[in-house]
Amino acid sequence: MKEIEHRINYNLKPFNTLRISSIADDVYFPKTIDEMTLLLANLDNPVIVGNGSNILFSSNGVKRPVIVTKYLNKVEVNPPFIEAMAGVSTPRLSNMAFELRLSGFEFLVGLPATLGGAVTMNAGANAQAVSDYFVSAKVYDTKDDGVLEIPACDMEFGYRTSLIKKNPGRYVVLSAKFELLPSDSYIGIKQTMDEALEKRKNSQPGLKEPNLGCAFKNPVDKEDNKLSAGKLLDEAGLKGYLSGGAMVYFNHANFIINFNEATSLDYINVMREMQRLVFDKFNIMLEPEVVYIGSDKKELELWNILLKG
Ligand code: EPU
Repeated sequence: MKEIEHRINYNLKPFNTLRISSIADDVYFPKTIDEMTLLLANLDNPVIVGNGSNILFSSNGVKRPVIVTKYLNKVEVNPPFIEAMAGVSTPRLSNMAFELRLSGFEFLVGLPATLGGAVTMNAGANAQAVSDYFVSAKVYDTKDDGVLEIPACDMEFGYRTSLIKKNPGRYVVLSAKFELLPSDSYIGIKQTMDEALEKRKNSQPGLKEPNLGCAFKNPVDKEDNKLSAGKLLDEAGLKGYLSGGAMVYFNHANFIINFNEATSLDYINVMREMQRLVFDKFNIMLEPEVVYIGSDKKELELWNILLKG
């Protein structure tokens, strides 16, 4: 473990897209899969951080050891297969697929994520999702201490969920393999990528106003019809609602932006009001998409209320 890069009392601000200051006791930066598995075998309940685009870190710090995957960034290409390590950025994968004239990763171009996080939550946009072209993932099983290769049929993918997500703390994605669709048309792939970027630019804050993507999952109604959380939140009048430095984004009501040194508590308070007002107006309980990491007593209490609805 000695040679693995390690920092103590380290600020996670650059490692979360909300740009929350959060001091972590211990942060590790593995550079190989061997270093990663060594850490996973030895650390107690580590937090795995890719781009931190879906994680709300407590402003009062993180006691659990943190593993940042950004140096696990190798990609192997054998068209139409692409196999990439957990820390590879999703826009990079999208651009690589484009260069290879492979279709299926267009939606990843605008997701500010890493592959490990995207697989774990089965990230998606524009009617595409990680599960669409997924073949298998190598994961570390912290319960049985070993590496497993899990095929698509055993990944239990669903809307923003997977086997990994359903078993918090048990499995950690090391790498994932995809079989994409060969295409004759660079232009077609590029056009879909451009449309994905354009749609984001018009309705989402991107990274210019720090945020964690959609705060809530999209719900379904009693007849199982898909609804948009953003639309419901908008109709409940939440755009511009703020608490401290956190505010519901004006162009899309399912985003909370950090407009002025927001704390994690500000973010949670905004989420509570969003959940409450949508429930009051539509009798629909929104479920958080964002994950909270921290041990602050008050925040944990509020977060558990949010999770239970
Ligand atoms: N809408 C409003 N007001 C709003 C927001 C949206 O009226 O404030 C309307 C839109 O005009 C549109 C509908 O609601 O008619 C759906 O909105 P949008 O197309 O923006 O999609 P979404 O369901 O809000 C989902 C994903 C996004 C993904 C987009 C684009 C979830 C929770 N959100 O948003 O993913 O980028 O589709 O495909 O599944 C994320 O998961 O973090 C995320 C940002």
